[in-house]
Amino acid sequence: MDPIRQALERARSARLSSKDASLDPFTPEASAGAEIVYREVKLSAAHLEAKRIVAHDPMLESGRYYDMLRTQVLQAMDDQGWQILAITSPTAGCGKTVTACNLAMSIARLPERSVLLIDMDMMKPKVADYLGIEAKNGILSVLQVRAGLSSTMVRTSIQDNELLVLPGEVCRSGSAEWMASQAMTSLIETLKRDFRSYVIILDLPPVLIGDDVLAILPWLESILLVTAVGTSTLPDIKECYKHLKSAPIVRVLVNKVSERTESYYGYGYHYGSS
Ligand SMILES: Nc1ncnc2c1ncn2[C@@H]1O[C@H](COP(=O)(O)OP(=O)(O)O)[C@@H](O)[C@H]1O
Ligand SMILES: [Mg+2]
Repeated sequence: MDPIRQALERARSARLSSKDASLDPFTPEASAGAEIVYREVKLSAAHLEAKRIVAHDPMLESGRYYDMLRTQVLQAMDDQGWQILAITSPTAGCGKTVTACNLAMSIARLPERSVLLIDMDMMKPKVADYLGIEAKNGILSVLQVRAGLSSTMVRTSIQDNELLVLPGEVCRSGSAEWMASQAMTSLIETLKRDFRSYVIILDLPPVLIGDDVLAILPWLESILLVTAVGTSTLPDIKECYKHLKSAPIVRVLVNKVSERTESYYGYGYHYGSS
């Protein structure tokens, strides 16, 4: 048996035999009605802004694009009863993580919304770095039953706004196998159930690098495709559409446009159409 298969098998049997609920990532803690205490981290506005995260502060002009995006995305999600929004791009460096963090912050500012941001990019996990969280464990530890879900999640806050985060973790090899694993299926089912009232944002790897996104595709209810001027080509975008056929792309965002007035221009509104 190859090492990845062995690790998957170990995780599966550890979960089946786990007597220690605190180590079992898929214990229905929240649904059991118990108060769950997450590690709390107060975020620094200066750190966020240095990483281009601006949507925590409604006074920052550049954050307004994310507020518009928030409204468009939430309308589509509410219309269709979707809970999960996955953010991806054709290739790396288009601005997925910057978009995911900003969109999550912008939604978190709405008084009646709660947000869970999950870093699912096991090639280049950056959410913790961009938010300024030190994370010992991440999603891979949860999948491998080396850490519990509630002890891995972090409750971040800035001013009065809260954002729940499941940090990422590098997977040196076999990330697609973890994406497609039974452990991931159980994790997503648990999160959907225990965070039913939350908007769940997944920061995914790129579509055209590896097969991580294809592996998780059956779980994706809606997709925001981030493209970048100078990085994304039309053939790449068409290729993404081909791969993502089974999940609705709610919006295609063109990032890194240099004109200030157009610096965050989103186009395309494809959900519900073919
Ligand atoms: N609108 C933008 N304008 C200029 N630089 C940006 C913009 N959005 C993101 N970046 C920068 O591009 C780099 C890649 O962004 P990131 O969100 O990490 O991309 P991805 O997650 O798609 O790999 C980062 O250095 C980020 O600060
Ligand atoms: Mg990223």
